[in-house]
Amino acid sequence: HGFARLGISAAARKGDPQARFFVDPAVRADPYPFYDQIRAQGPLVHGRIMWATARHDVASAVLRSEAFGVGFNDQRLPAPIALLWRLGRRTAPIGPVDPPSMLVTDPPDHTRYRRLVSKVFTARAIEALRPKIERTAEELLDGLGPRFDLVEQYAALLPVTVIADILGVPLAMRRQFLDWGTMAAPTLDLGLTYRQYRRTEIGIRQSNAWMRGHFERLRREPGDDLLSQLVHLEGEQLTDDELLATAGLLLAAGFETTVNLLGTGAALLMAHPAQLELLRDDPSLWRGAVEEMLRFDSPVQNSARICQRPVEIAGIQLHPGHVVVPMLGGANRDPAVFADPGRFDVTRANARDHLSFSGGVHYCLGAALARLEGEIGLRTLFDRHPGLTVAGEPRRRKTRVLRGYESLPVAVSVTV
Ligand code: HEM
Repeated sequence: HGFARLGISAAARKGDPQARFFVDPAVRADPYPFYDQIRAQGPLVHGRIMWATARHDVASAVLRSEAFGVGFNDQRLPAPIALLWRLGRRTAPIGPVDPPSMLVTDPPDHTRYRRLVSKVFTARAIEALRPKIERTAEELLDGLGPRFDLVEQYAALLPVTVIADILGVPLAMRRQFLDWGTMAAPTLDLGLTYRQYRRTEIGIRQSNAWMRGHFERLRREPGDDLLSQLVHLEGEQLTDDELLATAGLLLAAGFETTVNLLGTGAALLMAHPAQLELLRDDPSLWRGAVEEMLRFDSPVQNSARICQRPVEIAGIQLHPGHVVVPMLGGANRDPAVFADPGRFDVTRANARDHLSFSGGVHYCLGAALARLEGEIGLRTLFDRHPGLTVAGEPRRRKTRVLRGYESLPVAVSVTV
């Protein structure tokens, strides 16, 4: 990992466009001018390390193409580096975005992992959770005073409460999950310092140790939750590593992303009172508004795909082992698809064409849940506190692939 970090920092200093995404402070503060530059350079831009695209049509084609996968094949590395890589993998703990997590596994194993859990996340199954999610949002707001931190005390808690309930992990653990999640989240970014990297490992190790103990409890005393079902599968059992990766991914993906949608969405509505007014006059606009929030400032900014067989994309020949980064946040601001893309417009007709949930076989499994939590979470908040205002300096998360706020102080009414 240290090698990757040094390589990326060196490439960024020499002006590598994609590496800048991970190291330039200006890009972290506002990545959108950077995406515009990448898009202006061409449909697929080659850096020292990988290819990138900020065009909607190209990003979408790569995500959907069967010529690309997510599995990393270390046999394509030079032998000594491959050896180091394998040693590193053997000693590192299995995190939510490490193999055999479905997020980084290709079919046919991917198909099997995903099928085991997908029933719980269909649009219909999720819609049935509406009353419960509404109650959770109301209860969280009940406990808050006239000033609170919208992210720490609301946006972070709603998704972790909901996913804990679906998975059947104790609610009392939710602060602990959030802490482990915060420690592990930078693992998606490149260019970490060694200390930052160690911290992600500690978070993942602690969370895995708890999860293993929880599986033991479920083996003795199953409940009627998703993890109990996974532990007690008949016929096609999951190995311990597969169980750990699946549970870890569902838990982390369940709260690390939706917190950004809620925080960013609330900040956007407070900054655009006329848009909030439109939602108040016509609540049927809420659904589209959530799509526009996802488009305008995507909670997950980047994906990555690895070429598996020779293929031509946007007139460029790619070969096995080439890495392409579809810049989801950049594709969402492509003027060829979204008119006046820098304008936040809750009535935008095609906002739902965003790529914030990716595409192809890895299309976000939790999209229906995220959409429902976004709609209920924000609607309940603004129904209860129509005059909500920012009451302090908002602080952005330090992560780059995951984009959102870590702190957003608010006041429920304007004090003069
Ligand atoms: C995959 C975004 C919420 C579970 C993904 C991917 C994206 C994404 C971009 C695919 C990454 C890629 O193609 O490389 C989001 C956003 C969310 C959100 C923006 C919230 C606003 C959730 C929730 C869950 C969830 C609530 C609940 C379990 C998953 C899983 C995958 C995934 C399991 C892996 C799917 C696969 O590999 O087949 N998500 N997600 N996500 N998401 Fe979400």
